[in-house]
Amino acid sequence: MAKEVVLSGIRPTGFLHLGNYFGAMRNYVRMQDEYNCYFFVANWHSLTTHPDTRELRNSVNRVVAENIACGLDPEKVALYIQSDLPEIAELYLYLNTMAYKGELEKTTTFKEKVRLSPDNVNAGLLTYPVLMAADILIHRAVKVPVGKDQEQHLEMARNFAERFNHRYGDVFPSPQAFNYGTELVKILSLDGNGKMSKSENQMNTIFLADEDEQIRKKIMKAKTDGGPLAPNSIKPDYIENLFTLMSQVSTPDTVQKFEDDFNNSSEGNCIIRYGDLKKQLAADMVEFVAPIRAKAADLQANQDLLKKITRQGAEKARASGAETLRLVREAIGMN
Ligand code: TRP
Repeated sequence: MAKEVVLSGIRPTGFLHLGNYFGAMRNYVRMQDEYNCYFFVANWHSLTTHPDTRELRNSVNRVVAENIACGLDPEKVALYIQSDLPEIAELYLYLNTMAYKGELEKTTTFKEKVRLSPDNVNAGLLTYPVLMAADILIHRAVKVPVGKDQEQHLEMARNFAERFNHRYGDVFPSPQAFNYGTELVKILSLDGNGKMSKSENQMNTIFLADEDEQIRKKIMKAKTDGGPLAPNSIKPDYIENLFTLMSQVSTPDTVQKFEDDFNNSSEGNCIIRYGDLKKQLAADMVEFVAPIRAKAADLQANQDLLKKITRQGAEKARASGAETLRLVREAIGMN
């Protein structure tokens, strides 16, 4: 039986961080054997909000390098750059006729971007969800690993696909949100305020490109408190977050030791030492990130290899995209 098609896109804005890694990329890596995977860097999308392209090529290369460094195997998945697939642009054109101005204007991310940049409300911004639908439908993907913030876009993609099928005949399966196995790990900002993100204060986010010393410094500065007031307390979310990180990079024994210390602590008898916990976490995190950072740096220094990899990814992706476009054109009657 043919493997199901999985697809996801990564915006090339900012550096990748632990939230991306534990919440998304590690999940992609697990999918690559079982599914027919397409992962791409959404550089067209970034034009809708970042018209200045001086940094774009660099960012695209870094994202590709970091994804490979995290374990994506370009021999197993199609890893490509959106702008290398002109097929997406053509499908975007057709899908634009399935999308209504009213629903596009109601999209949460659109309204948010209008609020943030009222001077750049361009049509590309309005039709961002249509381009995203084209990204997905060009490979007739059925499983789309995305975070909660992208679910509205995904629902719109389903609507556009359904309208197309209804108008011109069945071409597209219905794409669904997808996690591999268990719940996704959510990593909070190190000050406990919201998700770890690229736009947050840089001190509260650990990037895959951070040097050992930066990682240590950030973790040692992470928010803690005076310790639990009663045995077996519920952890405040900033403490829970440190344990979550620890569970990802430290040995089970280490995690258990600090869990026990936490659970045995009470007011006036604080056994857990958050300073020690952070020191241990910092050491284990440094060991975890260092090889990823080194591999990504090596790749970025080897532009020829990156080119070769993305060209190979584009070839795979174009074969699939061309076949979808053939079906689309035939359905519309434009063949
Ligand atoms: N909009 C997504 C984001 O901001 C990126 C993206 C573009 C994407 N095209 C996609 C994600 C297709 C999944 C499928 O994160």
